[in-house]
Amino acid sequence: MKMKTKPFANPAVPVERVGSAFLHQADALAMYEHWPRPTCIIADGPYGLGKFPGEPHSVAELPAWYAAHVAAWSKYAATDATLWFWGSELSWATVHPVLDVNGWQYEEACVWDKGIAHIAGNVNGKTIRGMPVVSEIAVRYTRKNLLPDINGNLLPLKEWVRAEWLRSSLPMNQSNAACGVKNAATRKYLTQCHLWYFPPAEAMAQMAAYCTKHGAKTTRPYFSLDGKSAFDGEAWERMRAKWNHTHGVTNVWQAPPVHGKERVKGDDGYLHANQKPLALMERQILSCTDAGDVVWEPFGGLCSATFAAAKLNRRAFAAEINENFFKAALGRLTEGLATPQKKAA
Ligand SMILES: C[S@@+](CC[C@H](N)C(=O)[O-])C[C@H]1O[C@@H](n2cnc3c(N)ncnc32)[C@H](O)[C@@H]1O
Repeated sequence: MKMKTKPFANPAVPVERVGSAFLHQADALAMYEHWPRPTCIIADGPYGLGKFPGEPHSVAELPAWYAAHVAAWSKYAATDATLWFWGSELSWATVHPVLDVNGWQYEEACVWDKGIAHIAGNVNGKTIRGMPVVSEIAVRYTRKNLLPDINGNLLPLKEWVRAEWLRSSLPMNQSNAACGVKNAATRKYLTQCHLWYFPPAEAMAQMAAYCTKHGAKTTRPYFSLDGKSAFDGEAWERMRAKWNHTHGVTNVWQAPPVHGKERVKGDDGYLHANQKPLALMERQILSCTDAGDVVWEPFGGLCSATFAAAKLNRRAFAAEINENFFKAALGRLTEGLATPQKKAA
């Protein structure tokens, strides 16, 4: 599938372009259908704290608030996309069922540990009745991709690979010979247990060729992703999320809240209460995208993810609904990246 690169503007909303970043002062819901398919979505939206205009005041309201956004992410994200969902433990737990039912697969929860300095001097030991909170979480989701079987039923990949082999009427153990392995095909690629492992494109191509040669005769090519064309290794590899591993990085991220030069300031101090560290945004983007990929930041704020993505040569698309935050984000990226090229509405 070719990446759609145009159009990426809602004709009703002007776009500000800074380098490879595209910023819109808009409700993200008005933008999704116009942006190119994302490989990564960084969603740092409401936590249910009522901190910015329109933010729900309780976590109980979050599922309804997020429903249309999550549905759009599912509709438009690439099959190899990753969603990073920021929240508190409770806001995430409350929204998780919405993500799950919309086809997002929970992978892991990463904890942003802001360190003791975050609360130093602010805790009254005589009145506090719990642990001082110095964390937020960023939860990684990938897509629960589905493929059609011969009857048109959409199957999870694990079931689909096995169904395609069974369609050949060949015994299961011949899959090992097909792939030139001792037992990896039966133990990993075709098993239905937790040991299932996403078969590499090469193994899939070998199984497809073997089934075609030795299996039941059929007009539907074996392991065809669309039921019509021959097995496509590149498209198959895109059926799972990208992952670029960094040794030494765990799911606990120690980083102080943003201070100093990085922190965007207004007339009365810090401009935005929720500005995220660029280093964490970079970590998220690097883990699941390559240069040239598309990153979405639906709830821009000061557009930290978009800033990081553009610096890393990704194409970044942000929406921020609030005019003050939007202007500050634009100024920040303009200063940090390049001269803006204003595009016609
Ligand atoms: C938690 S802040 C994001 C902070 C950002 N990660 C940063 O580092 O600056 C969430 C932002 O989303 C914006 N927002 C809320 N609903 C929105 C919507 N429907 N579309 C676009 N922006 C929205 C809010 O105005 C707020 O600035």
